[in-house]
Amino acid sequence: MEIVAICGSPREQGNTATLIEALFDGAREAGAETTRFDPAKMSIQDCTAGDECLVSAEASCRIDDDMQQIYAALRRADAWVLATPVYHGHVTGILKCVIDRLYAFYTTEGGEWRLGLSGRRRGAAIVVQADTERETPRRVAEYLESILSAYNADPVGCIAESGLTRPGDAAANPDLLARAKGLGRELASS
Ligand SMILES: Cc1cc2nc3c(=O)[nH]c(=O)nc-3n(C[C@H](O)[C@H](O)[C@H](O)COP(=O)(O)O)c2cc1C
Repeated sequence: MEIVAICGSPREQGNTATLIEALFDGAREAGAETTRFDPAKMSIQDCTAGDECLVSAEASCRIDDDMQQIYAALRRADAWVLATPVYHGHVTGILKCVIDRLYAFYTTEGGEWRLGLSGRRRGAAIVVQADTERETPRRVAEYLESILSAYNADPVGCIAESGLTRPGDAAANPDLLARAKGLGRELASS
């Protein structure tokens, strides 16, 4: 069982990263292996809409950058975690860039759109924001769950948390950490 998480925050030890690591703690207790990617520290270009990736299920993205590592990890993963802080009401540009590049997993071979990934996997979303209203992180988590579903990563749950401002706020919230850990256990065992 391998879980791959994409961290949409530029903060290596911020709230998003802290909750990913808490989720990983729970998942590892349940026997899973875990890999986290921090695209902000990697070289990943925007999708250039070349569409060569669509030609066949095996065709890959023509852009030879660090996204190739993420493609390989996501292909073999049993579960995907998409995690982000809210930036101006939505996911960060860092995560959106990775999401757009996931398009390469699709193919139009044979004249019909289909996913070039075999089998199904599981998925989870993590969203944090500073504001104390609760609607926006839920809406963003729903968006991430729709992306997971589009890649046959069936969502098992999410963390959508408000009122986290400073990088250490999640780490100082034991209940939140426990929820993230529980989600990790569920992801690894469902
Ligand atoms: C560019 C930018 C835009 C932000 N936009 C919002 C926002 O729209 N709503 C909000 O509640 N917080 C917003 N925040 C605050 C972050 O969501 C919040 O601090 C979060 O906990 C950061 O998570 P991190 O530590 O994982 O990076 C923004 C922060 C930045 C840097």
